Amino acid sequence: MDGIDVLLKERRLYRPPSQFQKKAHLSGFEVLEELRRKARRDPEAFWVSAAKELFWIKPWRKVLDWKPPFAQWFVGGKINLSANCLDRHLSGARRNKAAIIWEGEPGEIRTLTYQQLYSEVCRFANVLKGLGVRAGDRVAIYMPMVPEAAIAMLGCARIGAVHSVVFAGFSAEALRDRINDAQAKLVITADGSYRWGQVLRLKDAVDEALRSCPSVEKAVVLRRTGAASPEASDLAWSEGRDHWWHELMARASDRCEAEALDSEHPLFILYTSGSTGKPKGVLHTTGGYLTQVTLTAKWIFDLRDDDVYWCTADVGWVTGHSYVVYGPLANGATTFMYEGAPLHPSADRFWSMIARHRVNVFYTAPTAIRSFMRLGEQWPAKHDLSSLRLLGTVGEPINPQAWLWYHRAIGGGRCPIVDTWWQTETGAIMITPLPGATPAKPGSATLPFPGIDADVVDKNGRPVPPGKGGYLVIRRPWPSMLRSIYGDPKRYEDQYFSQITSPDGSRRRDIYFTGDGARKDKDGYFWVLGRIDDVLNVSGHRLSTMEVESALVSHPAVAEAAVVGRPDEIQGQAITAFVTLAGGRSPSDGLKDELRQHVAKAIGSLARPSEIRFSETLPKTRSGKIMRRLLREIASGETVRGDVTTLEDFSVLARLQSQGEEE
Ligand code: WTA
Repeated sequence: MDGIDVLLKERRLYRPPSQFQKKAHLSGFEVLEELRRKARRDPEAFWVSAAKELFWIKPWRKVLDWKPPFAQWFVGGKINLSANCLDRHLSGARRNKAAIIWEGEPGEIRTLTYQQLYSEVCRFANVLKGLGVRAGDRVAIYMPMVPEAAIAMLGCARIGAVHSVVFAGFSAEALRDRINDAQAKLVITADGSYRWGQVLRLKDAVDEALRSCPSVEKAVVLRRTGAASPEASDLAWSEGRDHWWHELMARASDRCEAEALDSEHPLFILYTSGSTGKPKGVLHTTGGYLTQVTLTAKWIFDLRDDDVYWCTADVGWVTGHSYVVYGPLANGATTFMYEGAPLHPSADRFWSMIARHRVNVFYTAPTAIRSFMRLGEQWPAKHDLSSLRLLGTVGEPINPQAWLWYHRAIGGGRCPIVDTWWQTETGAIMITPLPGATPAKPGSATLPFPGIDADVVDKNGRPVPPGKGGYLVIRRPWPSMLRSIYGDPKRYEDQYFSQITSPDGSRRRDIYFTGDGARKDKDGYFWVLGRIDDVLNVSGHRLSTMEVESALVSHPAVAEAAVVGRPDEIQGQAITAFVTLAGGRSPSDGLKDELRQHVAKAIGSLARPSEIRFSETLPKTRSGKIMRRLLREIASGETVRGDVTTLEDFSVLARLQSQGEEE
């Protein structure tokens, strides 16, 4: 992969094509700059004009209440997110428009119009009520990528239940921890999901998790893959606890008034990895979140009424929340969902779907683009991709080589690319080109969205000069910012508002630190360099080194473990784990496999280390800190390595380098 040097040397400018610019919602760099200037002078007025596009049951009293580091937006307002995504589209021509077009991995296709989606969501909201779920209760969703996942989320939002979607690739143990942290009352799942032509047995994982989740009273199970009844399949069934989705839905009314919820009513919790072993429950609320998600989706993806828009993210990630479900539906757009693996049954599955559904806007991750690039241009070339007019990326920095390939091989050289920087915590896109306005530089997420005060600063919050690296921060609160870490406001403050300090050492509680390093160039363009904390980005998935380390040390053969990321051509980063063994255990290939499997069981296969290396001791500084920089160098092959199955001895290297790391 071309490295950061190439990334920084990349100088090409790609101006919005005039064809695109002519019709865009936001057209011309000057127009955008003027908006940015106005928003800088009065950010609250900017966000108010966005909030006014939504349907409020009761107007707010106060736009922003900022008691650093805690913000509240549109205070006193009453709103319902599902009413904004559904009810308000029913009066005009959108009523019979496709809200969701879905394709299952085996090939079936379903379309739900806004009217149909509305009825399903109302029905499901009544199902939730019938199961005793009330506003404020937490509901865990562990579902495949099927329309019912969106129905479940919208159903929760309709009655004010707080959803916690757990990516179906997480293991039973990871699911259990997330359910327990949120004290969820209900779990919504499916018997299984299709992936790579196989059935992924989701209900089994739920059964295993629920053995130690005392807060859960009921489970709702969608029949996706299985037999007609639990008896006819080999599905375990807990009478009284488990209920079939279709049976409950058949009895439920399709009318359910949308609850008038406070603007600051919690909407969802989404767990993400931080720098410790315990995932953080990022808490988002309603009014501000919806405001920013709706406006960003409209402008950045330039949504038009006749578009088919496809974001390939799973609903288990924040991108799936904001830009598969809520953003597009709030705009009355048609959102396309796909259930399965990207390369199944063949490497052109995505391109075939784009051609068959005439997809216009396509939003995916650099890791996917790199793997398509490796498979070769012959796969997209087999299909007519001329419907595409706009492309997007998210999740990690995109290397210019992949950007250029995406631009040419997928976009036919005519589609602008929006490289969108944001996080689970920011809720919505923060730094991004606007496709009809911003000249793109491959590899740069370009400039902050209007109303967003992002900067690159030093430890004391002072802007660093162009070209110099620093901390990527956001200075002012934004509407869709996380409100806290669920149940742990202190961790919220420590995690995001402690690194940037005043010269006297006191915390700057008014500056949000993203965890990313970045630099700005002379045009003010942002170049995100990646995480500077102990968070890995593996195929666009966030994982903490400590999370993987604690999974490893929970295996009896392991005495100590250190996990680092090494550059990987496809995944961005791959996991290398250095392991010292407990007394009496000796290294073997079998044990390596066992440990990799053990991590997959504890977290999910997304966390399975690509490499395990056994060592006599872990290199440490004199004060006992693991020398991660040295391990990263060793893992990236910059330092000579020995035979894989014998114990490696890093002590000499460690002694040589300890001076440097201690400083
Ligand atoms: C990284 C995903 C560079 C970054 C929406 C961030 C990016 C983390 C980009 C958040 C981008 C995301 N360019 N880096 N366009 N987008 N990142 O919470 O390190 O899963 O902090 O949210 O991904 O990952 P998360």
